[in-house]
Amino acid sequence: MDTIPANKREPAPEAIFDPIMDDSEDVLANPYPVLKKMQQDGAVIWSSRGNQWLVLGYNEANGILRSKNFGKKLLENWKPPNALMRGAMISLRRRQGPSMLIQDPPEHTRLRALVSGAFTPTVIHRLEGHIEEIASDLADKMQRRLLAGHEVDLIAEFAFLLPVIVIAELLGVPTKDRDKFKKWSSDMILSFTGKMKPMRMAKSFMAMANIRLYLKLAIEEKRHNPQNDLISELVKAQASDAESLSNHELLANLVLLLIAGHETTVNLIGNGAYNLLSHPAELAKLRKEPTLLESAIEEILRFDPPVQIVRRLAKEPCELGGRQIRENDVLTVMTAACNRDPRIVQDPDVFKIDREEIKHLTFGAGIHYCLGAELARTEGRIAFKTLLDRFPNLTLVDKAHVYKGPFSLRGFKELYVRA
Ligand code: HEM
Repeated sequence: MDTIPANKREPAPEAIFDPIMDDSEDVLANPYPVLKKMQQDGAVIWSSRGNQWLVLGYNEANGILRSKNFGKKLLENWKPPNALMRGAMISLRRRQGPSMLIQDPPEHTRLRALVSGAFTPTVIHRLEGHIEEIASDLADKMQRRLLAGHEVDLIAEFAFLLPVIVIAELLGVPTKDRDKFKKWSSDMILSFTGKMKPMRMAKSFMAMANIRLYLKLAIEEKRHNPQNDLISELVKAQASDAESLSNHELLANLVLLLIAGHETTVNLIGNGAYNLLSHPAELAKLRKEPTLLESAIEEILRFDPPVQIVRRLAKEPCELGGRQIRENDVLTVMTAACNRDPRIVQDPDVFKIDREEIKHLTFGAGIHYCLGAELARTEGRIAFKTLLDRFPNLTLVDKAHVYKGPFSLRGFKELYVRA
């Protein structure tokens, strides 16, 4: 069934910002006032520009993410108002292939089960010592430059490197290729936004082709020369049961892991460092009471999420937040707004690392709950502990810090510090 035109819908307030279609530098730099304003219009509001519902209430979003009535077959059904964008997104989706992130059960269940063993808390716990060594090496390099009086870009010299090295090692691809991953991944995500300029699309498609070719060669290499890494594990699983995983699926899921494994966690470390350093009283609390670190990380995830949207398609009509949702309507959960829903959190706009209870939807919920959540939390914990221990006088350099889009993966492009 087609989505119904706006003039035939139940009246719903119109969104002043659409996270896919609008590309505003101001909102990227600080989306929170706009999100708050939209939330005051309702937990679920309509965006004509994006032809989609925006979900801004915590309980409504949590319900969607945990319900079987909302699925992932989005792009087959979503009708962006812009035909060029629709064509480009479908084409990109075909190139991306069937990763677990865009599948419904039973395909989703099968694909997730194949890789989930590599991300359990026990496995991640075993990696901790090694992640600490990586963080410490990076801090050594930063320290030399900081002691020499230089300003250091925390993103380039720490926040990007830690997660990209960890995910490359887990997968079994050379960490020296990390600058290629960075370039491919930032080009690829250029198409996650509404401004579908031909140059952007071309860059995004080229990056996708390059990353797939790179991983295809890595898969071939592991078939002949298996090592102790995730690509080799998956190649082995495929050899013992060809039906468990097609080549197409293997490749699509490796692309997902490589990209999801670092783009997001860079933002956790960058956004976290920024919020701690710009809230000196909270930072002092944490320095005085280091056991608050886990709670501080949850507050960073709630307050300034590294992933800003999660999307679903309604499989059946339903009522949500007082709106009539039709079959095949698209719903975009605005994570940061939900995390600041005044119905579930007191003083939502205050950054407070010792809250008694911290609820957030930053890792999603339900069957697609982030597979890398334990890894991301561990990397975050080690990153902040290393930075706090090694640099007692770390401060932000007093200048405008540059954010990078797309909005869905909002984080710092650069974040200069000194010690
Ligand atoms: C702070 C860092 C991270 C954040 C905020 C984050 C956020 C998310 C969110 C919101 C989802 C659910 C998407 C949906 O429901 O549509 C997700 C799924 C996923 N994430 Fe993460 N992620 C992070 C780090 C990682 C890392 C380090 C990995 C490493 C491999 C990873 C791998 C995945 C995968 C494979 C999925 C798909 C799960 C599925 O579809 O069942 N993520 N992530």
